[in-house]
Amino acid sequence: MKNNDSLVIVGAQWGDEGKGKVIDFLAAGADVVARFQGGDNAGHTVVYGANIFKLHHIPSGILNPRCTSLLGSGMVINPLVLLDELAELEKRGISTANLRISGKAHLIMAYHQVYDRANEEMLGENKIGTTGRGIGPAYADKALRRGLRVIDMTDSRVFRERLAQVLPLQNRLLKDAYGHEGYEFNRLVEIYRPACNKLSPMVTDTSRLLSESLSEGKKVLFEGAQGALLDIDHGTYPFVTSSSTVAAAAGSGSGLGPQCASRVLGVLKAYTTRVGEGPFPSEEKGEAGDLLRAQGSEFGTTTGRPRRCGWFDAVIARYAARINGLTGLAITKLDVLSGLETINMAVAYQCSGSTIKEFPSSIAELQKCEPAYEIFPGWHEDISRARTMDDLPQAARQYLEAMEETVGVPIELISVGPDRTQTIIRPQTYLAGWCGD
Ligand code: IMP
Repeated sequence: MKNNDSLVIVGAQWGDEGKGKVIDFLAAGADVVARFQGGDNAGHTVVYGANIFKLHHIPSGILNPRCTSLLGSGMVINPLVLLDELAELEKRGISTANLRISGKAHLIMAYHQVYDRANEEMLGENKIGTTGRGIGPAYADKALRRGLRVIDMTDSRVFRERLAQVLPLQNRLLKDAYGHEGYEFNRLVEIYRPACNKLSPMVTDTSRLLSESLSEGKKVLFEGAQGALLDIDHGTYPFVTSSSTVAAAAGSGSGLGPQCASRVLGVLKAYTTRVGEGPFPSEEKGEAGDLLRAQGSEFGTTTGRPRRCGWFDAVIARYAARINGLTGLAITKLDVLSGLETINMAVAYQCSGSTIKEFPSSIAELQKCEPAYEIFPGWHEDISRARTMDDLPQAARQYLEAMEETVGVPIELISVGPDRTQTIIRPQTYLAGWCGD
C-alpha cells in the first residue's frame, strides 16, 4: 500500500469548521474521497458559483465527476435520508454513479431516532444537544451486536431475517421504556424497500477498493466529520458524538492500517463555534458572539440551530494537533473577522488560581476554566479577494503567524470566503503539491 498521496482531513474544533469547503476544493485533485465515521449528523455546505449543496452522508467529492466517493465501514447510514440526498443531487444534474458504500456500515433505523429524541427529553437540562438523527443509538446497537448493516439490505431475505431477529426487542424497549407504540414488521420492510433497491448496486468492498487505489498511486482523501472535541474518547465527554472523529479512525473506519495516509490536515475556523451543550471556554455570550454568528452565518446545516460562537482557542487547537497527529492546518472563515477593532485568542486557561496550557481531561475542571487571552489588532480591509498571503493586511498575517506558532503546526490553506476560488494555498507546502503547484 503506497500512501504518499493520501491525506486525512479532520475537524480540529467542535465540528462545523468548514471541512466541506476545504474537501470540495481539494477533491478537485483527488481520485477517491472516503468518509470513515459518523452519519447524517454531519452537514457539509458546499458553495459552487450560484449553487449551494447541503450534503449529509455523501462526501463533498461527489461534485467532482472524476472522483470516486466512498461511505466507509465506520459510518452509520440512514438509508431513507441517503435516498433523499441522492435524489436531490440527481435532480440538480450531479451524477451519483461514482458512489460506493461499505456493506459493513451500520444502518440508522427509524427506532434509533425515537430513542435519540426520547433520551434527550429524559435528560432534560442535562441533555447532550444531539442532532436527533439517531447516531448514538445506532452506534450503541452496533456495540450491542444487534445492529443491521448495509450488506443486509442487499438481500431481501436477509434483511427480513435480521429485522425479524431484532424488532421484537426494539419494540419491547420502545413500548416499555419509551411509551412508543413500536413498529409493525411488514410496514418497516415496505418503508425500507426502495432504499434497499436503490442502494444495493452501490455496495462494494470499500476496504479493497481503497487498498487497490492506494497501491495504484491514486490520490485518496479521507473525509472526517464532526471535530476532535466531539470524539467519543478524546472529546468533551459526555457532550460528544458517538464515533471516533480523530484521524486514526480513517484507517479503522475504512478497513485499512494506520499508515493509510501520509498527511493529516486539521481544519479550524479563525474563531470557534459549537452546537449542542457542553463546556466552551472561549464562548462569547454577548455582543461579540452575536456579531460572529451574524457575520459568519453560524446556523447548523443539519438542524438550523444557532451556533454558539467565541474566540479562537489555541489550547484546544494544540490538543487537537496532538490527538490527530496534525501535519498541517487549514484556517477557514478568516474574512468573518474583518472589521473587528481587536481579535482575542485564548492561549491558556486560568483554572482555580493557576494557568494551564494543556486541555484538561476532567469536564468539571474544564467547566471552571476561564480563557487567558492574547489580544491582536484587527483589520478593516475586505480580504475576500485575497489569493496569496501577500494580499492579506499585515494584521491578518500577524494573527495567522501567532496561531501557527502557538499551535506548532504550519498553516497550509486559508479560506477567505465560501466559494472554491476564495482560497489561499501556501506555496511549498504539501497542499501546494496536492493542487499541482
Ligand atoms: P449526535 O452526533 O447527533 O449524537 O450529537 C452529539 C453532539 O455532537 C451534539 O453536541 C451535536 O450538536 C454535535 N454534532 C454532531 N454532528 C455535528 C456536526 O456535524 N457538526 C457540529 N456538531 C455536531
